[in-house]
Amino acid sequence: MPLTPVLTVRYAEERSWTIETYERTEGYSAWRTALGMTPDELVTLVKDSGLRGRGGAGFPTGMKWSFIPQPKPGETPTGPAAKPKYLVVNADEGEPGTCKDLPLMMADPHGLVEGVAIASYAIRCHYAVIYVRGEAVHAHRRLQAAVAEAYAAGHLGRDVHGSGFDLDVVVHAGAGAYICGEETALLDSLEGRRGQPRLKPPFPAVAGLYGAPTVVNNVETLASVPFVVRGGSAWFKEFGPEKSPGPKIYSLSGRVVHPGQYEAPMGTTMRELLAMAGGVRPGHELKFWTPGGSSTPYFTPEHLDVPLDFDSVAAAGSMLGTTALMVFDETDSIVEATLRFTEFYAHESCGKCTPCREGTYWLVQILERLVAGHGTARDLDLLTDTCDNILGRSFCALGDGATSCIASSLKYFRDDYVALLPADEQGRLGRTLKLEP
Ligand code: NAI
Ligand code: SF4
Repeated sequence: MPLTPVLTVRYAEERSWTIETYERTEGYSAWRTALGMTPDELVTLVKDSGLRGRGGAGFPTGMKWSFIPQPKPGETPTGPAAKPKYLVVNADEGEPGTCKDLPLMMADPHGLVEGVAIASYAIRCHYAVIYVRGEAVHAHRRLQAAVAEAYAAGHLGRDVHGSGFDLDVVVHAGAGAYICGEETALLDSLEGRRGQPRLKPPFPAVAGLYGAPTVVNNVETLASVPFVVRGGSAWFKEFGPEKSPGPKIYSLSGRVVHPGQYEAPMGTTMRELLAMAGGVRPGHELKFWTPGGSSTPYFTPEHLDVPLDFDSVAAAGSMLGTTALMVFDETDSIVEATLRFTEFYAHESCGKCTPCREGTYWLVQILERLVAGHGTARDLDLLTDTCDNILGRSFCALGDGATSCIASSLKYFRDDYVALLPADEQGRLGRTLKLEP
């Protein structure tokens, strides 16, 4: 297997964010190579590499690019094929515990810009937008500086490197709403509307920004693309499992000796990553952890050897999500941690649909009651019932994600909830009436 670091290889370079450093370390060579290929060849290359979206869902990147309707040779295009194509970078990283895209944009902004250029050419787009989280003013400025440098060096703009291809890239700051990381809410926000999810289908690939075909890709996904072009699909596939290959940035936070970003091949286990991060803080034991941020069901020490790739994590009952590994030890209350996450979802719920808007509010009320020691035996059923009425009934993934921490904490640590009940309520457990459907 080839060695990492790949994506983070420039992090240690002096002034790694400048175009001088980038070009000195093979930067923009993939862009020149890509311009010598046809867009279809590029799509095939990325498809063959097996690169899957790093924003959380793991959708195959090349396949997403291939969904963009293109005019057929010799025919006058109609419908979506006749419209302009857009590339939108989802740089609105907001999942609790996730901190992989921001460091990437700070340390290696040109890696993203080069990925944007190659992806735009592959989908025949001449206008790309990088939508950065509103609070990340420093990343916004750094990207703007990188885009300006890329224009000045002729990597962007009119007739790039004499290829006849035009490309404009704009960096746009969001306003700090978690829901604007949902791709269609992001598009609404870009169009100047309140960011709320749209009904899918149609997917953005057919009707996205201004109703035109749009690819929405995550920062880490696009930053991987120049390496695919330079190294080839076979090289990329050598990292990790066949169905989710590639180098990956894992964010470790919480009760670890050295929290931070660790790059390793897809399929690396938590046990291996913990070893890289110095382990759980001395004198303490791992109690529970998230494989992919707060929207993914908790894992426990029994999952330490699950390969962290999309399929293996799903088979073990959770989701790889954003590879945000939040580590908790025996001093942490799982019910309190779950309450904090649920408060976050209740606050960030956009209010469009009732199960999420009302349900997350009620979940917070129940969890607060339990944490305060005023819970009832019925509250445990009520938590499950409320989750059941949110999961699969919400308009977007935020509602479903909000139930993950509650359902999985009850699955693995029900006793911790019971321990918070007053003694007389503990005696009522198992004798509570089943809730009406
Ligand atoms: P999804 O599975 O609905 O879609 C994934 C991507 O594939 C989208 O771009 C979608 O447009 C595309 N797609 C799916 N089916 C398609 C089809 N038939 N035709 C064309 N395109 C298609 O997942 P979603 O809702 O976009 O993302 C959910 C994930 O986001 C969660 O797994 C979570 O881990 C992650 N997430 C990440 C956050 C972050 O800060 N990076 C924040 C919150 C959630
Ligand atoms: Fe809005 Fe929540 Fe419904 Fe998503 S699930 S549309 S965030 S209210």
